[in-house]
Amino acid sequence: INAMVVRNMSFKTGQTLTVTGVPSADSTNFKINIGHSAEDIALHMNTRFDAHGDQRTIVCNSFQDNKWCEEHRAANFPFNQNEEFQIKITFTSEEFLITLSDGSQIHFPNRQGAEKYKYMFFEGDGRIHGIEIK
Ligand code: GAL
Repeated sequence: INAMVVRNMSFKTGQTLTVTGVPSADSTNFKINIGHSAEDIALHMNTRFDAHGDQRTIVCNSFQDNKWCEEHRAANFPFNQNEEFQIKITFTSEEFLITLSDGSQIHFPNRQGAEKYKYMFFEGDGRIHGIEIK
């Protein structure tokens, strides 16, 4: 399992965060968390090839007050093990908009409504090739 944390990022509404990487050949899942801290996550995106009882499902959620909130499951799953992905994330005070490699999108509410997040965490079976905020 690989992990990477950024604690002093400046990710603001109107900007786009692009993450590219590749899940390992035997990847079970990987996650990208964006928020204020490890205990205060506005967007958790968990790409599950086979984890937590789900197969090929993207689960989004937020984590506040020491608990997970309401899950959102995406209809699409444009990921393959050993194949490079590109995830683009942008947000407003209302919602996160995630655009995946095939152009499909996921809308997830920005439940805290913050306009700036500084914390990002990646963990899972795979490697990050690049992270860019523009
Ligand atoms: C849990 C899982 C967490 C997180 C959460 C999202 O089952 O253990 O890692 O993915 O679901 O709601």
